[in-house]
Amino acid sequence: VKDGYETFMDKEIHEQPKAVAETLRGRTSLDGRLHLDELRIDESVLRSVDKIIVVACGTAAYAGHVAKYAIEHWCRVPVEVELAHEFRYRDPVVNEKTLVVAISQSGETMDTLMAIRHAREQGSKVLAIVNTHGSTIARESDAVLYTHAGPEVAVASTKAFIAQITACYLLGLYLSELRGNKYVDEVATYLDELGKMPSRIEEVLAEEEQVRTLARSMADVTSVLFLGRHVGFPVALEGALKLKELAYIHAEGFAAGELKHGPIALIEEGLPVFVIVPTPRRPLLHSKVISNLQEVKARGARVIVIAEEGDEEAASYATRVFWVPRSTPTLMMPLVTVVPLQIFACELASVKGYDVDKPRNLAKSVTVE
Ligand code: M6R
Repeated sequence: VKDGYETFMDKEIHEQPKAVAETLRGRTSLDGRLHLDELRIDESVLRSVDKIIVVACGTAAYAGHVAKYAIEHWCRVPVEVELAHEFRYRDPVVNEKTLVVAISQSGETMDTLMAIRHAREQGSKVLAIVNTHGSTIARESDAVLYTHAGPEVAVASTKAFIAQITACYLLGLYLSELRGNKYVDEVATYLDELGKMPSRIEEVLAEEEQVRTLARSMADVTSVLFLGRHVGFPVALEGALKLKELAYIHAEGFAAGELKHGPIALIEEGLPVFVIVPTPRRPLLHSKVISNLQEVKARGARVIVIAEEGDEEAASYATRVFWVPRSTPTLMMPLVTVVPLQIFACELASVKGYDVDKPRNLAKSVTVE
């Protein structure tokens, strides 16, 4: 069942290129057109939507954070991302002009289910991005965009996350096309880039042994920080969550720009800090993260950098560097930058002797509120 891998999580990490390819299959064609026939929400409704709210929990919510950057950029429609349990029990402003996007691997997360029921009661249309066919969230939504990641067995989500982000890109590009936004001419280019992501993920996986070696040398750490900016921010949050879930280590993800507003006080000699660096092709973003690298390095942190191949400037501040392939569009970088973080958490948990597939206190689907 594990195809020769020691754990399901290992297997699922390696299935990520396929999860992206399968999620794209049949939805993009060689002529650069997008086919999302399954979105059975009237096109006029999708055109008139004036706000999108993504509701989800845990890792799925981080996929939603990535979606916000992409959809707002491509579609010029405001996107809010909210933890489903927070959305449900405040008094959110939602109506028939709001599109609620629920993201869930299992399709059974009670918090997310209660949020979509509430949204539909207020007249919103609900679009679910779900991995499990026929699940409750899929059945109770107005439309479903399935992620085709295949069954995810390990409690910690990996390939479902990657597939959720992929589906969100498809949704963003589709809405951009439908609403005739200024990026509409670039939809074909972005689809082409999306098609290259499976092989880019393979390239990162090919370097996994180096990440595992680092993890094995860090079995004694008690706290790890993750910093990222722009789409690197949700990746930082996800890296921290993986480490908490699997290795039971205190870990926190921060927006890199927030460092000076407080968290920098935590930095001390030897503290491991992962920094997800944006491409140097975006100099404004890049230079800001370089400053953050300088700040943590100057305080003696053990800096582990995830950067675009050849980014020697970022590498010069690093104790260790893991490269991701060059020329990945900024918005699509989470699909490659998250992979070393997943491998790191998985290996560190194994080294500590923990059950990687079934971490303590957690369930694969959380069917209670
Ligand atoms: O099945 P869902 O995607 O709705 O689950 C949401 C979260 O419970 C889930 O992502 C959780 O955070 C994972 N254990 C993360 O690895």
